[in-house]
Amino acid sequence: MTDTIQERINQYLKDTIAAERNFENALATFGKAGEQTPVQSMLSAASAKAKTQHERLEALLAKRGGTPSEGKTLLAEMLAFTPLSAQIGQGAAEKNTQHLMVTFAAAAAEMAMYESLATAASVGNSEDVVSLARTLQKEERDDYDQVWGVLRASAADSFQAELAKGKVAKDVLKVYLEDTIAAEKSFETQLLGFSKEAGNSTDQQLFQQHAQETKEQYLQLSSRLEQLGGSASTLKSMLAHAFNFAPKIAQLGHDEYERQTQNLMMAFAVENAEVAMYESLAEVCRIAGDAETEALALSIQEQERATADKVWKQIAPAVRRAMTTSRMNAMA
Ligand SMILES: [Fe+2]
Ligand SMILES: [Fe+2]
Repeated sequence: MTDTIQERINQYLKDTIAAERNFENALATFGKAGEQTPVQSMLSAASAKAKTQHERLEALLAKRGGTPSEGKTLLAEMLAFTPLSAQIGQGAAEKNTQHLMVTFAAAAAEMAMYESLATAASVGNSEDVVSLARTLQKEERDDYDQVWGVLRASAADSFQAELAKGKVAKDVLKVYLEDTIAAEKSFETQLLGFSKEAGNSTDQQLFQQHAQETKEQYLQLSSRLEQLGGSASTLKSMLAHAFNFAPKIAQLGHDEYERQTQNLMMAFAVENAEVAMYESLAEVCRIAGDAETEALALSIQEQERATADKVWKQIAPAVRRAMTTSRMNAMA
C-alpha cells in the first residue's frame, strides 16, 4: 500500500521535473525575443530559476530511488508553451507583452502544480517533498508577482510602438478586442469539456457556470467591437494558440482522477491568463481614452479572478481523491 503511494508521489515529481524543464526552455526562448530589454532579462532570469528548480527536484527524486522520465510527461505536454513564439506575427514589443501573459499563466500553473505535489506528498507523509514543494511554490509566486509588476508598462509600450508605426489607436484596439473574443470562444469550449469530465457536482457546476459567463463575456465584447465599427474575426487567437489546449487533452492517458486534477490546474492557468489579458487590455483602453471598453475589461477581469479563486480551492481535494483511489487500488 505504502509503496504505491510513494510511487505515485515519485510520478508527480517526474511530471513536475519535466514541466520545469519545459519552462526552462520556453522562458529562454522568450528571453531572446522582442525588444523590451527589462522584460527579456526578467524572463531569462526566470529560465535560470526553472533550471535550479528541476535540479533540486531531481536530487530529491534520486534520494527517493527514482529517475526522471526520458520523454515528455503529461504535465509538460499540457503546458506546452514553446511553439507559441513561432506562431505570433505581431509587433516585436507586442511579442514581449504576450510572453509576459503566458509567463504569468505559467507561473500560476506552476503554483497549482506545487499545490498538487505538496498535497500528494502530505497524504504519503513525505515531509521532505512537502517542504521542497512549498519552497518552489513561493518561488513561482515571486515570478508571478514580478510579471504582474511590469505587465501594464509593457502593454503601454507595445501599444505606443504600434502607434509609432502610424497605426490608428482605434484600429489597434479593435484587433485586441478580436483577439480577446477569439480567446474567450476557445475557453468556452474548453470549460464545457472540463465540465463533462468533472468528478463531482461542485467542479461540474463551477465549469458549467463559468462557460455560461464566458459566453456572456464574448457577447459583450462583440457588441462593443461592433460599436467601434469592427466585427469579430474567425481567426484563431494568439492566447488560444499559446496554450495549445484541446488536441493535447484528448491524447492524455492517465486515469480519470488524475485528469480531474490536471483540468483544475489548467483551468487555474487559463483564468490567470485571462486576468493578465484584461489587465493589458484595460491599460491600452486607458491610454486610448476608451473608458467604456476599459470598464468592460475590468469587470470581466473580476469574473476571471473570482473563478480562479474557486478553481484553486478544488485542487487539493481533487489530489486527495486521486491519492485515496490509488490507495484503494493497492489494497484490492
Ligand atoms: Fe473569460
Ligand atoms: Fe475565464
